[in-house]
Amino acid sequence: NTGAFTYDPGFTSTAACESKITYIDGDNGVLLHRGYPIEQLAEHGDFLETCYLLLYGDLPTAAQKKDFDHRVTHHTMVHEQMNKFFSGFRRDAHPMAVMVGTVGALSAFYHDSTDITDPHQRMVASLRMIAKMPTIAAMAYKYHIGQPFVYPQNDLDYSTNFLRMCFAVPCEEYKVNPVLARAMDRIFILHADHEQNASTSTVRLAGSSGANPFACIAAGIACLWGPAHGGANEAALNMLQEIGTVDKIPEYIARAKDKNDPFRLMGFGHRVYKNYDPRAKIMQKTTHEVLAELGHKDDPLLQVAMELEKIALTDPYFIEKKLYPNIDFYSGITLKAMGFPTTMFTVLFALARTVGWIAQWAEMIEDPQQRIGRPRQLYTGEPQRDYVPVSKR
Ligand code: SDX
Repeated sequence: NTGAFTYDPGFTSTAACESKITYIDGDNGVLLHRGYPIEQLAEHGDFLETCYLLLYGDLPTAAQKKDFDHRVTHHTMVHEQMNKFFSGFRRDAHPMAVMVGTVGALSAFYHDSTDITDPHQRMVASLRMIAKMPTIAAMAYKYHIGQPFVYPQNDLDYSTNFLRMCFAVPCEEYKVNPVLARAMDRIFILHADHEQNASTSTVRLAGSSGANPFACIAAGIACLWGPAHGGANEAALNMLQEIGTVDKIPEYIARAKDKNDPFRLMGFGHRVYKNYDPRAKIMQKTTHEVLAELGHKDDPLLQVAMELEKIALTDPYFIEKKLYPNIDFYSGITLKAMGFPTTMFTVLFALARTVGWIAQWAEMIEDPQQRIGRPRQLYTGEPQRDYVPVSKR
């Protein structure tokens, strides 16, 4: 009771939304998409199959998959005017800043898929977002490093196309390593959706006002950028590089346990997982595969990461707090080995999470009970009082 105001405890409950898309059992480290375990989707399928599953609720038949792949492939180009949009940024702009701006600007280019009351326009917007994010992400990277944009190629699969747009140059033939393309695709699957995390909740809240899907995805990208969320993959690699060698690990473990030190082990802990993040196990296996393929299996960063994980998993503090590696702990090592700068890591997370955002957005929009989100507050400020003239203050 704050004197002039009393509050209804009911308003302080955390509003939960209903969804059929993703299920997480944090205590047992379980992640299901439409009922299918992430381990099986990552092992047996490709990213566009997972996109189809998240959007439409079931695994596609061969014919449905062929049609979906064709439709996504034929939406990968962006309006040529987008090229000019990039040139307004400084070359050293963080690629996530560029992504927030360019994805939000898509609403200005695609007026025929912004009417959220039209199911066809919603479907086209979803396809466009999934198809164009690799192109925009690759353009953000190329602009950042001062190289010319590379157009998508329709004869390549989704992840091969993306890696080629990032790493090909006009002056010579570029062939994407299929092992790296498969690893990229699996990394996209691992990041596709994750229930009501901060950025997905941001997309849902923005969408609940009727804002167009491109603007909602831009809001999700902005939220994902934070180091406590999607920015953790960049922060985790920076942390591993700062630690540098295995003998420095105890110093950082001590800092992570020190309540007076704001330092946290990046890539560790999770609001929901109080067990090992199932995605982190698959990520670690993918890291070993990529480093072996590239001849970097003795990468010092991997040695530091594995030793840090071993120490943390046996430390009473981390055991008591139930802190385990999350998806962001190993992903940076893999992405760096593949040739990406740390500033691109969260861009890749946003590229993959776009399907989760758009699937959750569509699920909300299609719910006839859906109303604008309006979180309530517990007022703890001053009771009502009268104005005091400045002469009397
Ligand atoms: C993602 O929500 C999602 O699903 C997100 C995500 C997705 O796919 O969308 O999974 C992606 O964001 C993964 C998380 C990436 N972030 C990081 O790795 C940053 C480092 N981790 C932390 O900042 C932290 O663990 C959070 C932000 C992830 C969770 O923060 P919470 O909810 O405060 O963690 P908690 O309540 O479980 O913390 C319990 C205790 C706290 O101490 P006490 O207040 O009880 O004394 O553990 C401490 C925390 O201070 N703690 C850590 C820690 N994480 C939590 N201490 C040291 N290092 C850490 N990493």
